[in-house]
Amino acid sequence: MRILGIETSADETAAAIVENGTKILSNVIASSAEIQSKTGGIIPENAARQQIKYIIPVLSETLKKYTWQKIDAIAITVGPGLIGSLLVGVETAKTLSYLTNKKIIPVNHLVGHIYANWLETGDKSKVTRIRLPKFPALALVVSGGHTDLIQMKNHGKVTWIGGTRDDAAGEAFDKGGRLMGLPYPAGPVISILAEKYRNENPDTVLNLLPRPMIKTDSFDWSFSGLKTALIKFTTETNQFKIPTERLAAEVQEAIADVLVDKTMRAIQKYRPRSFLLAGGVAANTRLREKLKSKIDLLYLDVDFRVPIPELCTDNASYIASFAYFNFKPISWEKLIASPSISIADKV
Ligand code: KG4
Ligand code: ZN
Repeated sequence: MRILGIETSADETAAAIVENGTKILSNVIASSAEIQSKTGGIIPENAARQQIKYIIPVLSETLKKYTWQKIDAIAITVGPGLIGSLLVGVETAKTLSYLTNKKIIPVNHLVGHIYANWLETGDKSKVTRIRLPKFPALALVVSGGHTDLIQMKNHGKVTWIGGTRDDAAGEAFDKGGRLMGLPYPAGPVISILAEKYRNENPDTVLNLLPRPMIKTDSFDWSFSGLKTALIKFTTETNQFKIPTERLAAEVQEAIADVLVDKTMRAIQKYRPRSFLLAGGVAANTRLREKLKSKIDLLYLDVDFRVPIPELCTDNASYIASFAYFNFKPISWEKLIASPSISIADKV
């Protein structure tokens, strides 16, 4: 089965065709992040305008080699996200479903992210049989707007066990970066600066910033305090004069430490067969390596999965993959954008 996925929840306009939930046949992304960078963050109205501009060219490019006869269904992100951006995708998907008579599957963007772990990557000639994640699974979704830890007993059986009480992990990277004068989105820039600093200063202990809520028993996080702690190092008149690269490494280490600590405790408590990392922040090299080494250090018997960095950030391939494994079509008349849904909400 071939599913056309469409994703327009924020500042990426994306479409993809995925076969049987695992094989990417086409994956096209247009991003207006550069435009948002000029205003230091997303202005919803601007993002929606860019979605309108990109949606048809992105779909034409995605469908270049595949006629409609070769597509079996349409998967569409209905939320969470920015209402203006979501509406562009939702209305386009409705129109396409009406015109082509294809089934339509609404997708929760946050659960969708996790399905990047079901996609085949790497050297195609060597892939004989893809090893799929196993249930029960535990998933950590870390994106620009959300940080959630969930238990997955099976496809469609999702229980929320913890999350952020204020800023999301990606937001902490982006707001920290803004304080340091870095462009939006700051996560990838912080990651590069931090890795440079760590390579050049392998012995520096990175402990200038607090590790909020690390000692609490819950599986919740709080990241907003990091900004406050960072301000004293970034005001023009500050007495510390710490180089930006070091601050980048400090921010990255503090975020990674609290994410890793709580996740390890959740793995020990819930004993999943697979642990799945997902969302834009999952592209962070330090977070990936810290999770892996802590799992090894604690001898946790869990299959740790993380998508290749390109599939961690917003794209439509995982939206199509989710729809294959959770095939619940609805009629196009029933499709609505739901900007405020949470990760455990059915759509
Ligand atoms: O999942 P995503 O692409 O969009 C949302 O659904 O929000 O996540 C975007 C977030 C941004 O906050 C961005 O700064 C962060 O992911 N991000 C990273 C990295 N790449 C993207 N954060 C840290 N390190 C990275 N390499
Ligand atoms: Zn996302």
